[in-house]
Amino acid sequence: MYTKKVMDHFLNPRNMGEIENPSCVGTVGNAKCGDIMRMYMDIDENGIIHDVKFKTFGCGAAVATSSIATELVKGKTVEEALKVTNKAVVDALDGLPPLKVHCSLLAEEAIHAALWDYAEKNGIKIEGLKKPKSDIHDEEEINKVSY
Ligand code: FES
Repeated sequence: MYTKKVMDHFLNPRNMGEIENPSCVGTVGNAKCGDIMRMYMDIDENGIIHDVKFKTFGCGAAVATSSIATELVKGKTVEEALKVTNKAVVDALDGLPPLKVHCSLLAEEAIHAALWDYAEKNGIKIEGLKKPKSDIHDEEEINKVSY
């Protein structure tokens, strides 16, 4: 049910760990499954993400999506990193089972949460960046209720 890429990133996660004195940190969680993802970034004065690491307490797909997400944002500018959507994460893994797509949303949110922290710490505004949701399922349910 998982692609080779998912298994590879789950079994050999890239950029796992934490950065000492990072430029920013973002933590997001999903109350339903209880998974938590934290992303650390080291961003230089030109807004380029030099280093990125993650710690994920969660399912195998959450580990795989965190791992690939770090690869997708490393070396990018803050603006480019903002464009790394959960769909890009899923595509980079050659797909995820439908029940696991929310794990990729957590990865997108972790990137956004780290960038939000970066913007707040530096007193800047990143065009198109919205305050991250702390819990994706809550937001999804709010949307459902309001339909
Ligand atoms: Fe919730 Fe994977 S099961 S993030």
